[in-house]
Amino acid sequence: MIGRRSDDGTETTGEPRIVPTREGYDLWSQVYDDEDNPLITLETALVERLLGDVRGLTIADLGCGTGRHALAMARAGGSVVALDFSAGMLAKARAKPGGTAVRFVRHDLTNGLPFASRSVDRVTCCLVLEHVVDLDGALAEMSRICRAGGFVLVSDLHPTMRLLGRQAQFTDPATGRKIRPAAARHQLSDYVVAATRAGLSIDHMSEHVVDEALAARSPRARKYLCWPLLLLLRLRP
Ligand SMILES: C[S@@+](CC[C@H](N)C(=O)[O-])C[C@H]1O[C@@H](n2cnc3c(N)ncnc32)[C@H](O)[C@@H]1O
Repeated sequence: MIGRRSDDGTETTGEPRIVPTREGYDLWSQVYDDEDNPLITLETALVERLLGDVRGLTIADLGCGTGRHALAMARAGGSVVALDFSAGMLAKARAKPGGTAVRFVRHDLTNGLPFASRSVDRVTCCLVLEHVVDLDGALAEMSRICRAGGFVLVSDLHPTMRLLGRQAQFTDPATGRKIRPAAARHQLSDYVVAATRAGLSIDHMSEHVVDEALAARSPRARKYLCWPLLLLLRLRP
């Protein structure tokens, strides 16, 4: 098959292959932290700002991946339990400096959350819900474990990207083929309705568009100039 140049500059072949989400992330874990990912470039500082000071707080990081936010929150003085169902992603997270300061647990979020009700101050779920079909169930669990006075912070690929046919994907370096971990198809209203049904109130909701500054920092973003890339929600019980 003749290769073509992908937007991350790598040679790709054929149509993207959709694989079960966990399998996809196990494969992706090998290169996840090495890629130019505009969503992460855009999201990191925004999430940190919305989170604020986490010193002394108990935090559940759901779908922690390679530990990007979990490790930062532990460094900032939070007591962090981080869940993910991908052994590959968790292995990368655990091996990072500061990895022993976080309790990493292999767990599928769709099987409920292994925390007592009203037991954590912050729940973070970053770039994960794109892969979770049952938003109502996921947000109900987040609401259940979050203490009064705390909040739930959600970031996700903006639903508009899904309408454009985009989703989380990477190029498998072994085969040159694009791999897509299976994803759901949520509308903006689905997040709002699920939060409301879970008894959470929205105290922050923002949609972040690709601008020149992001395209300059992250070349892959350029083709989405002026399109919304990121959704952020801060929800309170
Ligand atoms: C795009 S990565 C984001 C990782 C991390 N939160 C971050 O922002 O850097 C999505 C992560 O969600 C995890 N994930 C997706 N569905 C999950 C589920 N049902 N249970 C646990 N983890 C899940 C994947 O394994 C992957 O590590």
